[in-house]
Amino acid sequence: MPTIPNSAINGVITGWGRALPETIVTNDDLAKTLDTSDEWIRERTGIEQRHIGGTTASLSIESGRRALEMSGVDPLSIDALILATTTPDRTVPATSAAVQHGLGLRCGAFDLNAACSGFVYGLVTAHGLIAIGMRNILVIGTDTLSRITDWTDRNTAILFADGSGAAVIQATDGPGQLLGWDIDADGSLEDLLYADIGKTLYMEGKEVFRRAVRIMVDSAEKSLKAAGLTTSDITLVAPHQANIRIIEAACKRLDIPMSKTSWVGDKTGNTSSASIPLALFEAADNGRLKTGDNVLLVGFGAGMTAASAVIKWKQP
Ligand code: ACO
Repeated sequence: MPTIPNSAINGVITGWGRALPETIVTNDDLAKTLDTSDEWIRERTGIEQRHIGGTTASLSIESGRRALEMSGVDPLSIDALILATTTPDRTVPATSAAVQHGLGLRCGAFDLNAACSGFVYGLVTAHGLIAIGMRNILVIGTDTLSRITDWTDRNTAILFADGSGAAVIQATDGPGQLLGWDIDADGSLEDLLYADIGKTLYMEGKEVFRRAVRIMVDSAEKSLKAAGLTTSDITLVAPHQANIRIIEAACKRLDIPMSKTSWVGDKTGNTSSASIPLALFEAADNGRLKTGDNVLLVGFGAGMTAASAVIKWKQP
């Protein structure tokens, strides 16, 4: 388990932004064409509605612009753009190219695909780049899962949606935010959740559910240990917003009360790479975080990937 060397230059989030498409699709809307009901979807997932529309680039530019404005950093001073997405707009080039251009950046830019764990993978990667000399990184998590969802399949159509969340992370000479982290993947589970090129998502929901709880708990425990903290030190958890029952089961095993979690999945559905930043920054925008709070980010996704990070919040 890697720990952060005391000598490492650390980073801090200085601005953030969120973006959701305008079009809202409710459970009742879905029940018009699928053999399902609002009651079933709410009970089994906690989801009430989702936002659908846009492209990965357009949503990323929207959230990215808000993050840049909030941080006040000159776009030309951004050293790297990391776009976490599992739904790129094109096979070639990376969607980060369009986002870089749209935001007026002149820097290294690349896509990172770790499915729903992507934003935390991006956060960890950003701190690695800061440790080797970069100063300003823009990390964006965006997915437009609606474009690879089979809208006639009630097993998946009720879950997936579109959204974006972005963070500017800047090097700091003072104490940084990243206390502990973990990234993991088990490629032998690839067939539990996949979409072939040009095709829609296939998912073994029950098995994903079972494994998700276990890997979220494992990953969270590793990050907490690396940070030298226990769950009682955590003020807020921003978990991947896949299903409220997965979050409840994981929190129960971690002994974290649900009142400490940020749940936006009722309004957004599962937005994959956008899910954790949407949950984190909604909590921040609603005044649920103050400087010094320890925050746990934890997610899982296709691949099957897992990622978590413990950060010490610094209110900009
Ligand atoms: N509406 C009504 N009935 C349904 C629906 C629906 N939308 N979907 C399934 N059912 C039926 C099933 O056919 C089944 O009927 P049966 O008992 O007659 O066979 C019954 O409801 C129960 O189905 P289960 O699959 O057992 O339902 P479960 O409680 O497991 O919920 C769900 C299904 C919501 C998919 C759940 O398993 C889940 O959330 N899994 C995790 C999915 C997930 O998180 N995926 C994202 C991974 S992250 C990423 O990278 C994108």
